[in-house]
Amino acid sequence: MKLINHYLPLLSLFILGSCNAQKSEKTTSLKNSYKGDFYIGTALSADQINEKNVKEDSLIHKEFNAITAENIMKSMFVHPAKDKYDFTLSDKFVAYGKKNKMFIHGHTLIWHSQLAPWMEQIKDSAEMKAFMKDHITTIVSKYKGSINSWDVVNEALNDDGTLRKSIFLNTLGESYLADAFKLAAKADPKVDLYYNDYNNEAPAKREGTINLIKKVRAAGGKVDGVGIQAHWRLESPSIEEIEKSILAYSALGLKVAFTELDITVLPNPWDLKGADVNQNFEGSAKMNPYPKALPDSIQTKLAERYASIFKLFLKHKDKISRVTFWGVHDGQSWLNDWPIKGRTNYPLLFDTKLKPKKAYYSVMQLKEVKQ
Ligand code: G3I
Repeated sequence: MKLINHYLPLLSLFILGSCNAQKSEKTTSLKNSYKGDFYIGTALSADQINEKNVKEDSLIHKEFNAITAENIMKSMFVHPAKDKYDFTLSDKFVAYGKKNKMFIHGHTLIWHSQLAPWMEQIKDSAEMKAFMKDHITTIVSKYKGSINSWDVVNEALNDDGTLRKSIFLNTLGESYLADAFKLAAKADPKVDLYYNDYNNEAPAKREGTINLIKKVRAAGGKVDGVGIQAHWRLESPSIEEIEKSILAYSALGLKVAFTELDITVLPNPWDLKGADVNQNFEGSAKMNPYPKALPDSIQTKLAERYASIFKLFLKHKDKISRVTFWGVHDGQSWLNDWPIKGRTNYPLLFDTKLKPKKAYYSVMQLKEVKQ
């Protein structure tokens, strides 16, 4: 009894401490601040799925409640040979999401990029049809009831809204689009099915996306949502165009997800007048202006840009299912290597040391003031 009395104050301090910790986690994470609005997701690298870095891992659970695999579920990794699937990493990815009670998004079933070499050899329609049936049915059935939504088709359009001349279009014609959605719905009738693309908040591609989805539906395919990748810039696209897109897609009864959000702060070779895109910009100081740190003025611009984007998202939270960042922290971003290799970009809310940036606080602050 004496012993209990002795430890009682310590015990209450511990309980109080853990309550406070719980409370502060509730109020200070993205996922908790935006709870009830939409999921806040992140893309995970293979190392993150393998829980290689303890600090990154705890940041992921603390801040995010939805996950997408940045690469490991793409065709070349899960279906490396005609008769061979490799689900080692995708199983771990799904287990990770389940363990942490996260919304799990599948990326991606039908995409012209990151195909396995054997798929690139497919020349005729019968073989392509057989591939699609086997690929979609096998993967979607395997994760039936575990994966919450799928990018069924990714990036099937050109920027002018016409259909991209991909290996799928070339071998099957445009019926491949409806077929992909039908196969996915057949394998898991309950899972949400998305069409996902970049620049589809811009007018021409938005029109193309709407036409594509209408045609898929007319042919009997089920499309539940549209993914706007949201690889954006400081100055563009405008909030008005993004808003028009949210409204136009949701008017079709589609859920709108922002699936790969990041904002580049670096110069783009395509913006340089007369610049040859094939020119080699690697190692150019002009194209990599912030190799050591981001100046405060740009840090502030990034924070303001994120704030105006999330303000819009909150305005339309009833139409938005998920907002996913394309990576956990700046060090991991694909934008350090694209469109020029080896640059230092700052597109996300956490820096390379995993510290929240000004942009993080600007997104959080929107939930502190009354909407
Ligand atoms: O796996 C190899 C590794 O063995 C090698 O050591 C390393 C050396 O560079 O390359 C690794 O492959 C890289 C792969 O990512 C995995 O890290 C490829 O070179 C690289 O090209 C590939 O880039 C990915 C890109 O898709 C491919 O198209 C990016 O990480 C990934 O962020 C990006 O994601 C896409 C979405 O899926 C679709 N929307 C656009 C988005 C950005 O491009």
